[in-house]
Amino acid sequence: MTKTSEAPIGVFDSGVGGLSVLGEIHRLLPNESLLYVADCGHIPYGEKTPEFIRQRCAVIAEFFHAQGAKALVLACNTATVAGVADLRERYPNWPIVGMEPAVKPAAAATRSGVVGVLATTGTLQSAKFAALLDRFAIDVQVITQPCPGLVELIETGDLVSPAIRNLLRGYVEPLLVAGCDTIILGCTHYPFLKPLLREMIPDSISLIDTGGAVARQLQRLLSQHQLLARGPALESQFWTSGPPELFRNILPLLWNKTGNVRFFTV
Ligand code: DGL
Repeated sequence: MTKTSEAPIGVFDSGVGGLSVLGEIHRLLPNESLLYVADCGHIPYGEKTPEFIRQRCAVIAEFFHAQGAKALVLACNTATVAGVADLRERYPNWPIVGMEPAVKPAAAATRSGVVGVLATTGTLQSAKFAALLDRFAIDVQVITQPCPGLVELIETGDLVSPAIRNLLRGYVEPLLVAGCDTIILGCTHYPFLKPLLREMIPDSISLIDTGGAVARQLQRLLSQHQLLARGPALESQFWTSGPPELFRNILPLLWNKTGNVRFFTV
């Protein structure tokens, strides 16, 4: 199918986390029409097998392709490590943007030489992440911290309760003890916890996430393919494989704009 510049962009995550990336895309590219799938019926990806996640990526990518999306964004680190290579092979002419924990900028930024990574078990155990460390974490010590349970709480809209505070503190403490001055948020759900994290860590510690870099990479790819939209953008469309009511309720908290929410049946 020939794609036109006014066609929408497909963005997906296992759940609401990718809305942190969608926000960056919308800020940088306000003329673009956006479609978003939250695979909430299969959350958390971080505790699933790579094979299962690859299958979900294939199903969601096919959906966006059929919708005529001109580009695809994997707004999920865990889906990227498991599925982006297969998708690029399957759709060689489709601009596809994936994301990975910001090890390179963190290694460049650290002064203490110790960098922490908060991410899902799936991301941290992947060969792609190991390769990222081999390539960019040359003279720095990297402390990795899987964070099971955080995603499930964020999915309920919980960004401040004592339960999430305690869970997060338990994951951050070891990074502070190890002397990290830079912490990578290696899961797209975690930027929503920045205010809570800021209460727990000194101001001197930098928090790095990749939403902005993903938006810039998307802009570069669209420009290369002469697919940047002139606008105006159409209203964003959302699908969820979980209960649409739940997603509708959480959307104003994390997206701050209106949007149509439908059930994703595939
Ligand atoms: N938001 C996803 C990521 O960036 C994963 C969340 C999940 O475990 O489902 O890795």
